[in-house]
Amino acid sequence: MLCSIVLFIVLSDDDDPSAADARSQGTELSMGRSMSCHHVICLELKVKDLVPFSEKVIYRLFIARGMDIIQRGAEAEIRRGKWLGRDVIIKSRVPKSYRLPEMDRSLRNMRTRNEARLIHEAREAGVPTPIIYDIDTVNAEMTMEFIDGLRVKDELGRSAPDEVRDLLREMGRSIAYLHRCGIVHGDLTTSNMIMSKGRMWFIDFSLGSRCASVEEMGVDIHLLKESFQSAHPELLDRFHIILESYKENFERADEIVRKAKEIGSRGRYT
Ligand SMILES: Nc1ncnc2c1ncn2[C@@H]1O[C@H](COP(=O)(O)OP(=O)(O)OP(=O)(O)O)[C@@H](O)[C@H]1O
Ligand SMILES: [Mg+2]
Repeated sequence: MLCSIVLFIVLSDDDDPSAADARSQGTELSMGRSMSCHHVICLELKVKDLVPFSEKVIYRLFIARGMDIIQRGAEAEIRRGKWLGRDVIIKSRVPKSYRLPEMDRSLRNMRTRNEARLIHEAREAGVPTPIIYDIDTVNAEMTMEFIDGLRVKDELGRSAPDEVRDLLREMGRSIAYLHRCGIVHGDLTTSNMIMSKGRMWFIDFSLGSRCASVEEMGVDIHLLKESFQSAHPELLDRFHIILESYKENFERADEIVRKAKEIGSRGRYT
């Protein structure tokens, strides 16, 4: 009889996990130095005919790495894979050789933590965002929930006018929720929004910040308009739907929209 036992061992916040021995079911594993903190080690044990584990255990160690790259951007690599049986996206900030190594590490690390924190805070503000499962500060990568759906960029192109209106309203409302909590996204484009389970999910907060000023929020709205100009020019005459919904859900919206217009005109005349 072949039976399969899957054990999950979560490492503590220990910078040197090689010191840790995992003891389970009489099996002892020494963890390699190459493994970084926070990783969850998944052990799959296959036991034949109930012979003692120490003799016949076949085990495989998985950490959430080495999965298919689905996108390679200027800053980050996006991989898709499984993590504790869940579909995940792993976003890694890749080292840049033109930066001093120490500075490079700290910058990548800081940006990863900043993005993870903003994703979490945005969700608290009422905006659907992926759950962050793991942050690896050694490799500047985060593991998050995979949102299974179409980018809003693609969804808008294939939706009927009524559906487009609903999408634009939801977009305006979510941006209002972010801004009224002082969060700016920093890269509001329809590629950074995904429709899934009937809701609009916001991703890619890598350029975001909190405690935002009127100017920063104005830039957010201005950049969204610019992204519509390039990606959805046919919808520009419906951009007002986003702004109406934004205004309905954020008491300072008038001021921000005025600022966004001012930023737009500055761009035109400088
Ligand atoms: N949680 C997620 N679920 C599903 N798809 C995702 C998720 N995160 C990222 N993606 C996919 O990967 C693409 C790129 O991700 P993201 O926008 O975070 O990276 P990026 O634009 O390359 O990053 P950056 O702007 O930080 O350099 C997204 O447009 C989306 O298609
Ligand atoms: Mg992006």
